[in-house]
Amino acid sequence: MKELKSIFEEEYGKNDQPLQCFFAPGRVNLIGEHIDYNGGYVFPAALSLGIYGLLRPRSDQTIQLKSTNASVKIYVDLLEPILYTEEDGWGNYPKGVIKSLQDRGYSLGGYDILFSGNLPDGAGLSSSAALLVLTTYMLRWAAGDKDMDRAEIALFSQKVENEFIKVNCGIMDQFAVAMGQEDCAILLDCETLTYKHIPCVLGEYSLVIMNTNKKRELAESNYNQRRDECEQALAIIRQHRSVANLCQALPKDITTYLDDDLLRRRANHVVSENRRVILASQLLEQGNLIAFGKVMTESHLSLKNNYEVTGPELDSIVEQALGAPGCIGARMTGAGFGGCAIALVESSKLQGFQRTVAKGYNKTTGLTPDFYEARIADGVKVLEY
Ligand code: GLA
Repeated sequence: MKELKSIFEEEYGKNDQPLQCFFAPGRVNLIGEHIDYNGGYVFPAALSLGIYGLLRPRSDQTIQLKSTNASVKIYVDLLEPILYTEEDGWGNYPKGVIKSLQDRGYSLGGYDILFSGNLPDGAGLSSSAALLVLTTYMLRWAAGDKDMDRAEIALFSQKVENEFIKVNCGIMDQFAVAMGQEDCAILLDCETLTYKHIPCVLGEYSLVIMNTNKKRELAESNYNQRRDECEQALAIIRQHRSVANLCQALPKDITTYLDDDLLRRRANHVVSENRRVILASQLLEQGNLIAFGKVMTESHLSLKNNYEVTGPELDSIVEQALGAPGCIGARMTGAGFGGCAIALVESSKLQGFQRTVAKGYNKTTGLTPDFYEARIADGVKVLEY
């Protein structure tokens, strides 16, 4: 933290104004993929990896944004219209938050802000949700709003991503970043936003995050296409039966009403994955990790064969993980099309596991994977230092 404070002062100079520090985590989703926008259950957890944010008031109406992870510095004049621009890159996320807060009637002051993250970019660990939730939390906290409703922050950040960044994501990532709790996963009903923190007690096992280091190409267009397909399937089922969302459809609805093989497979994934989430959360509560691991693997197979969002790299890393000693379950996490997978592995076999997976994965794909040792941690927070 001291080091970040000196980077901040190198960038913006020293003065007497109070400097405040914040942190927002990334997330992994244990199970429940491509379910949030279909109104079902997801089971994510916030990570100890994430983004730090330092903020200090200025006396004018400018917000300056800098990140240790990028070279572009961004100036936001609060008296001018705030627009999305290609060249501002990552800075569009905080800009979108600033604009949306203004649109909601917040009168913001000027600030110098520095971000610094240890989350790999574009790896499916929700660096964008972390940046949005962090900026919202920092600016509202600095405006005196210290008892914020965290679910509302998540919804607000999702809206910025949908409307300003124009990514049509669901609520899972922002919710996990805002509502995370140390050593707990969040069982979230995405239709009602009711949730329960469930202790993630892994006993002799560890949760390993494996980065395929395959950048997520065309992820957005494929993601939107899947959303479309689910909407089509739901519209057809609704011609026959009233269902609140696709997760509420019955297997019988799929076989009876959906003629198209592709729509059937998409709907099969959604309906079966939603059931797997409920089952997996019960298994975790019961401490039945072996069965939990099996459900994780089933989830991956459904995402591979029915939802088709995995790709050769994610499939290879999961296959290598499942074949390595000590692994009891593995699956992709996040949107898919590259990014990260997770595995449950006997803690005493971690080193051998990583060696075996790295070797086999490199042989089949030519890529070198990364492994992260992250703990399950709290949601966005202000830090004392
Ligand atoms: C991305 C989206 C989430 C969710 C997942 C897939 O992370 O941002 O809303 O849809 O993909 O489960």
